[in-house]
Amino acid sequence: MKLFGTNETAARQRPVPQHIAIIMDGNGRWAKRRGLPRTAGHAAGSEVFRQIATYCRDIGVAYLTVYAFSTENWKRSQEEITAIMGLLKQYLFEALEKMERDRIRLEFFGDLSRLSPELQELAARTREISRKYEGFQANICLNYGGRDEIVRAARTFARQCVEGTATPEALTEEQFGSLLFSGGIPDPDLVIRPSGELRISNFLLWQSAYAEYYVTDVLWPDFTPAELEKAIAAFNSRDRRFGGVKP
Ligand code: FPP
Repeated sequence: MKLFGTNETAARQRPVPQHIAIIMDGNGRWAKRRGLPRTAGHAAGSEVFRQIATYCRDIGVAYLTVYAFSTENWKRSQEEITAIMGLLKQYLFEALEKMERDRIRLEFFGDLSRLSPELQELAARTREISRKYEGFQANICLNYGGRDEIVRAARTFARQCVEGTATPEALTEEQFGSLLFSGGIPDPDLVIRPSGELRISNFLLWQSAYAEYYVTDVLWPDFTPAELEKAIAAFNSRDRRFGGVKP
């Protein structure tokens, strides 16, 4: 955990989590309450992602991971899928344009091979170009599922065993973790779920083993930096023991 972030003012005295993960939930309900199509909720949610990512960077959070599209989200209507993919494309185009200004390193968790070739190419390009930025990384989960991620890592490990570069008995949690999409990135300290749902929804199953959960009834399109500060304050009030006891 960092005590002071890179760009924050000296007035900030509270620690920030090193890694925050967010299930960006409630877009559909937000739109419905306004008599708008669900896609309008995703457009508003996409804008909130931009604001929250910038805010996280500015207060010194090192990693932000967001759930943008799950392995289960393909069950939604083609119209909704196309709209979400369009918003992602728009964000990545913009990220490419404003990279020098924003200095956000972008990474993607998930099986990108099911996305359109254009989106795959954009993801690869933003990842490659932004890898030089240090200090803040946003991980966008796309066609991501926690179980799928674990099965893929298990397959990779099994292959290594067959090839003779690994042995089952010697496998450690650390080694297995390095085979996940998040390999090399510290586990999330704080997982936030807006919209009041009390479910994990296949999000970072392995990585959130010791994460603190924060749930709020606020819908994602209404989520603000002030709401994020409430989550961070709640996180700071928790007593993290990682399965141990307090000395
Ligand atoms: C969950 O809310 C939200 C999604 C499945 C899509 C999230 C995608 C975006 C915010 C847009 C693009 C993202 C980026 C990073 C630019 P829901 O639709 O399940 O809401 P509901 O439970 O109220 O129906």
